[in-house]
Amino acid sequence: MSKDYSKKIKSIDDKLEKMRIKRKDSDYTKVKEDVFDTPTLISLYNLSNKDILYALGGAISTGKEANIFFAESSDKPIALKIYRITTSTFRAMEEYILGDPRFKNIRHEKRDIIMAWTRKEYRNLIRAQNAGIRVPSPITTEKNILVMDFLGENEVSYPLLKEVKLDTEQAHQIYETIKSYMRKLYKHGNLVHGDLSEYNIMIDPNNIEPIFIDMGQSVTLDHPRAEYFLNRDIKNITRFFKRFKISDSPEDLSAFVRN
Ligand SMILES: Nc1ncnc2c1ncn2[C@@H]1O[C@H](COP(=O)(O)OP(=O)(O)OP(=O)(O)O)[C@@H](O)[C@H]1O
Ligand SMILES: [Mg+2]
Repeated sequence: MSKDYSKKIKSIDDKLEKMRIKRKDSDYTKVKEDVFDTPTLISLYNLSNKDILYALGGAISTGKEANIFFAESSDKPIALKIYRITTSTFRAMEEYILGDPRFKNIRHEKRDIIMAWTRKEYRNLIRAQNAGIRVPSPITTEKNILVMDFLGENEVSYPLLKEVKLDTEQAHQIYETIKSYMRKLYKHGNLVHGDLSEYNIMIDPNNIEPIFIDMGQSVTLDHPRAEYFLNRDIKNITRFFKRFKISDSPEDLSAFVRN
């Protein structure tokens, strides 16, 4: 490593040290080495230079491909979704990216695929938002980092659909909104979520409103597997809501979404 380079890294480390004002949970150190490799540190540094990132908080979630962190911009809480470069299972990403005509010029190297994936989630969120679906508002991307609005209160994320206790009426209300989101996404956004389930839908406790999250794998309708992904999403949703005596079959929901 050249001397200049190590100097740059040192200054990034110093800067990050300063940003870690809320370094209180033990998760942080556990995931630190895994997530904060040099390219990621540089991206965080760039975000802070661009005045987007003011303080990096604790880890919210450690997923298969990405980690979510609480953070702060100048005027509001934000969430950072940091796709891991070194330890992600990026083979699965290829299947989605390679069939997507929006990304046909991507070189097939791991780092390029992860950057394209991050960009793809950003664009998918914008597309969904424009189609009238409630999602975390995307703010920007920096290499393997997606910056978006934080959904929660007092640094605690809103619960996932799978975590909330619902009465029948609330469940019906949420189901109706999810149905309309799925239709809007398909009809107006030309997009299929691709991993829709009670694990990727948050609930705003203030108005019991669903919020779709985790759209990295969402594909446009011209993707060869779009119909397959949509059918899978439909099955997940009807399966989940059966327990609330919602008797729509996958065929019923499919007809609603597509017609
Ligand atoms: N904008 C946000 N604000 C607050 N919390 C969030 C936000 N986005 C995601 N989360 C939290 O982080 C978790 C993981 O997010 P997401 O599903 O996008 O990542 P993931 O790595 O694909 O996860 P997994 O591999 O577990 O599906 C969510 O379940 C949610 O609890
Ligand atoms: Mg998820």
